[in-house]
Amino acid sequence: MQRPLFRKGVMLRCVSCGALYEPDPKLFRCPRCGGLLEVVVPTEGVSWSSFRGRGVWRYRSLLPLADEVKPVSLREGDTPLIRCENIEEYVRRRTGRAPRIYVKFEGANPTGSFKDRGMTVVSTIARELRVRLVAAASTGNTASSAAAYTARAGLRMVLVLPRGKVALGKLGQSILHGASIIEVDGSFDDAMKAVMEAVEASRGAIYPFNSFNPWRLEGQKTIAFEVAEEIGVPDYVVVPVGNGGNISAIWKGFNELYDAGLVGKKPRMIGVQAAGAAPLAEAFERGLDKPLFVEHPETIATAIRIGKPVNWPKAMRAVRESGGRFVKVSDDEILDAMKMLGAREGIGAEPAGASSLAGFLKLAEEGYFDEGDTVVLIVTGHALKDPDSMLRLSVDRREARSSEEAVRMLLSMLH
Ligand SMILES: Cc1ncc(COP(=O)(O)O)c(C=O)c1O
Ligand SMILES: [Zn+2]
Repeated sequence: MQRPLFRKGVMLRCVSCGALYEPDPKLFRCPRCGGLLEVVVPTEGVSWSSFRGRGVWRYRSLLPLADEVKPVSLREGDTPLIRCENIEEYVRRRTGRAPRIYVKFEGANPTGSFKDRGMTVVSTIARELRVRLVAAASTGNTASSAAAYTARAGLRMVLVLPRGKVALGKLGQSILHGASIIEVDGSFDDAMKAVMEAVEASRGAIYPFNSFNPWRLEGQKTIAFEVAEEIGVPDYVVVPVGNGGNISAIWKGFNELYDAGLVGKKPRMIGVQAAGAAPLAEAFERGLDKPLFVEHPETIATAIRIGKPVNWPKAMRAVRESGGRFVKVSDDEILDAMKMLGAREGIGAEPAGASSLAGFLKLAEEGYFDEGDTVVLIVTGHALKDPDSMLRLSVDRREARSSEEAVRMLLSMLH
């Protein structure tokens, strides 16, 4: 007899019509209405003491895979939650209020982004299913992570990337880990469309690692578990939004803790988008319940350069249900936030990762937060991913024509 892949009681639920299905690792759309699916994991009997070990798999009792299944893992998760007192002081001086600010530094994951939390789960499933080929469209971080985890799992991986729009470090990682790469002339949205069509046409032979695959989001929800275990439930969680998978995964995580009776409140979720790629933030500002898709998204934060977010219903629900909001930030605001994290706190964020701070600062200036609020900023990816963006930041940088001149410069800096 084949051993079960999923824990007892795990189901799939359509987020549009509510229909329930038996867990099928290859079902990505509701057969009845075409809606997105989410995984339902039983929460009865889950206690803090059921969490054992470290990283994503510490929370195995809330993950859908059966206990016997051996994970494909690089010891992802368990990322630092860093109190940012220097930024708190800056905010207090600018606004007269001092919320407590933490950064959840997802750049500390094995391939440098939060994607690893999801890839450990889907690569485990793909290995168990012995799929012939794995595919993913990516703005870069999904590619880096998927390439590394499929390498470890012994799976064939093909990445579909928007040509010329992937940050250097991410392209390098994809090559390093040995994935096949298809670069398309077009945006991420075109790459995603190609993957979805190929998955459909292959009738399950090609397995997708994008976040419309609900099993991937199961790994990503552990961000919520780690935060809650370390400091309790914060008042706000601020998340950079591209496809909207991560913000919905984190919201799902807090809901599961609440349903299990492990916490007594939930945070407000704040989704941050770049102004040139803000289909959800624009819709929110206008009070619409559907995104305003962007045909030609543009931003320095290439990781969130997405005009048609596939997970928009889930992302909108997370923000609406939690009583949070979306906010959009300019590229200059993103670069300023990146510099602030780097130069005031020692935290290296790629532009998309720094957009959570940019969104927070914008709302703080508007008086959105109260004294004593606890705010967690998700810094989703590492600065080393995108060296070009770091080189755009201004800094005191001089050239000395000799070592003697360097000595004079050094001494002059004492004054
Ligand atoms: C660094 C970074 N931040 C944020 C996001 C957006 O996450 P999501 O697409 O789940 O909204 C991505 C996605 O590629 C990313 O790489
Ligand atoms: Zn449905």
